Amino acid sequence: MNYANLLTVVDNGILTITINRPDRLNALNKKTIEELSIVLKNAEGDDEVKAIIITGSGQKAFVAGADISEFANYTAEQGKALSAKGHVQLFDLVQNLAKPVIAAINGFALGGGLELAMACHIRIASDNAKMGLPEVSLGVIPGYGGTQRLAQLVGKGKAFEMIMTADMITTEDAYKWGLINHITTQENLLAKCTEMATKIISLSPSAIASAIRAVNANFQNGVNGFEVEIEEFGKCFATQDFKEGTSAFLEKRKPGFTGK
Ligand code: COA
Repeated sequence: MNYANLLTVVDNGILTITINRPDRLNALNKKTIEELSIVLKNAEGDDEVKAIIITGSGQKAFVAGADISEFANYTAEQGKALSAKGHVQLFDLVQNLAKPVIAAINGFALGGGLELAMACHIRIASDNAKMGLPEVSLGVIPGYGGTQRLAQLVGKGKAFEMIMTADMITTEDAYKWGLINHITTQENLLAKCTEMATKIISLSPSAIASAIRAVNANFQNGVNGFEVEIEEFGKCFATQDFKEGTSAFLEKRKPGFTGK
């Protein structure tokens, strides 16, 4: 399928999605959010896709935020609706996808761009990247989950600092604070993400989907994550992957997981 603002390629089970609006520093306009939502939903149901990498086109930006030109004249109601729709359409979808999603942060990840990266399960950044939530400099707050996911990743104090100062931080600080998992060079970024995705997809897809649900449960209001873990742990015993994984271990051979 062809997309106006995305490039997609599937190779060895890994779908790489490149957000492709380089003249706008890959800013997330409505169309791009819509297309990301479609491609991710399709990927979830596509047996050929086992992991997903999201990156930005060009050398400069992952995503420089939501597209400011689209919402500059919005009313309070329109602003609320924009945020609510975005959560469901894209950011919660990414977080809860049953397949691993890695953000390859190749440059500026600001506002909605950092929020997209934070919704991903894993973040790897190139050493030129800059990250921040500059919304208060525009008179607004992060509205695609940033106030929640940033605090979950870096703690409340650092989250307040980043949000209140609107400052961009370097990859070194992002790494020290736990915002990103790894730093690499820009040239090596996709290779590093692919290497990690390849490792993950050699393991049990059904167990990984369970792990995503259990870890995410910790951050859902009114949900007891320990109970979800117990449920998901139990469900694993009914999978072919569990039979295969344990048999392969006992038979001293490599497992061949199917995700069933
Ligand atoms: N929404 C809409 N357009 C954006 C954008 C955004 N979030 N971020 C960048 N652009 C556009 C710029 O307006 C510019 O368009 P132009 O060529 O028509 O002037 C183009 O992308 C290139 O950006 P530019 O600002 O010229 O690049 P720079 O290297 O000087 O600065 C940034 C880079 C990222 C510091 C700067 O673009 C920026 O501050 N962007 C907005 C970040 C932001 O506030 N994001 C949160 C949004 S809620």
